[in-house]
Amino acid sequence: MQKIPFSRPAILDNNLQYVAKSFANGWTAGNGPFTKTSELLLEEQLGGRCNVLLTTSCTHALEMSAILLNLLPGDEIIVPSYTFVSSALAFYMHGAKIVFADIRPNTLNIDESKIEVLITKNTRAIVVVHYAGVACEMKSIMHIADQYQLYVIEDNAHGLYGQYQDRKLGTIGHMATQSFHETKNISCGEGGALILTKPDLYERAEIIREKGTNRSRFFRDEIDKYTWVDKGSSYVLSDILAAILYHQLNSSEKIQKKRKTIWETYNKELNNWCSDNKVTQPYVPKHCDQTYHMYYLLFPDLIARTKFISYLSDNGISASFHYQPLHTSDFGKQFSTDEIDICPITTNICDRIVRLPLYYNMSEKKLLFVIKMITAFNFK
Ligand SMILES: Cc1ncc(COP(=O)(O)O)c(C=O)c1O
Repeated sequence: MQKIPFSRPAILDNNLQYVAKSFANGWTAGNGPFTKTSELLLEEQLGGRCNVLLTTSCTHALEMSAILLNLLPGDEIIVPSYTFVSSALAFYMHGAKIVFADIRPNTLNIDESKIEVLITKNTRAIVVVHYAGVACEMKSIMHIADQYQLYVIEDNAHGLYGQYQDRKLGTIGHMATQSFHETKNISCGEGGALILTKPDLYERAEIIREKGTNRSRFFRDEIDKYTWVDKGSSYVLSDILAAILYHQLNSSEKIQKKRKTIWETYNKELNNWCSDNKVTQPYVPKHCDQTYHMYYLLFPDLIARTKFISYLSDNGISASFHYQPLHTSDFGKQFSTDEIDICPITTNICDRIVRLPLYYNMSEKKLLFVIKMITAFNFK
């Protein structure tokens, strides 16, 4: 029997029709018709107060945000240690020193109360990650950023369609980034987007995405030839992938509804078992609308977590731990210290977390089987 996967991209009907349309358009490279319509649709879905530029990945959108910051040697960026490498790497690649922040033990998001002590005269920006699509405490974070005149970049890889109070995630900071990697709710294989809430950043962002040229203006017939005008790289998404993305964005209600049902079933059916066994379920504050990106459990310790993952694996179910702390990673430890653990909550959570299978095409039968196996797990 095939193992129940931990994650699968949403497989929709008619995917190939969109690919065929892209070829029929005669524009398969970047910045074509599907790129434009996807960007407009995403702007509308995010409430219209932003500009969206599709990119080859979230990592590249983060790099674009780093270039837009005009970093100077010695500039510092505050990043949670509990995140994907790219949230830190993109800024390191463009000359920044990384300053790691610890997370809250309940939402696993950057702990807003621990940011201010990390700010120095060299700090330029705070990167926040809405872990599992549950918002960081954006009111406090934007207040700190205003006070110290810092940029806030929302790494919104998990947070598309999430909300903090009445604001859509991805539109609260000055810039935000999306991932359309196959593991995300909305995907096109590999892809991403840069979201700008400051309109004055848009013109330069377009140039950075097009290898440092003003080619986008040329495509709009605003100039008669294009040339090299700034820094940049090849960050444009192929229109073939944008066509697949357009179909996914258009199907987002259906995708989100299904993921919500799976998430809520786990949450309800595992409730008693969790409280009986000192296993913690995800915490979603009342003022946050989450994205149903992930269903995770926090085990009492590493031994129980390891045993649980291998028990599920033996029973045909893939479950997974998550990020390794960046502040103790081989490369990241240059920004840390050996003497004390600068992010103890991160270290602790990394040992205890397990993510359960959750994907759009997961059948009810498989979901109930996973729940049945979990509740039969013997901690002894
Ligand atoms: C929080 C976060 N940021 C960035 C990324 C990188 O996304 P991409 O693969 O689109 O570059 C990921 C990938 O999983 C992520 O989880």
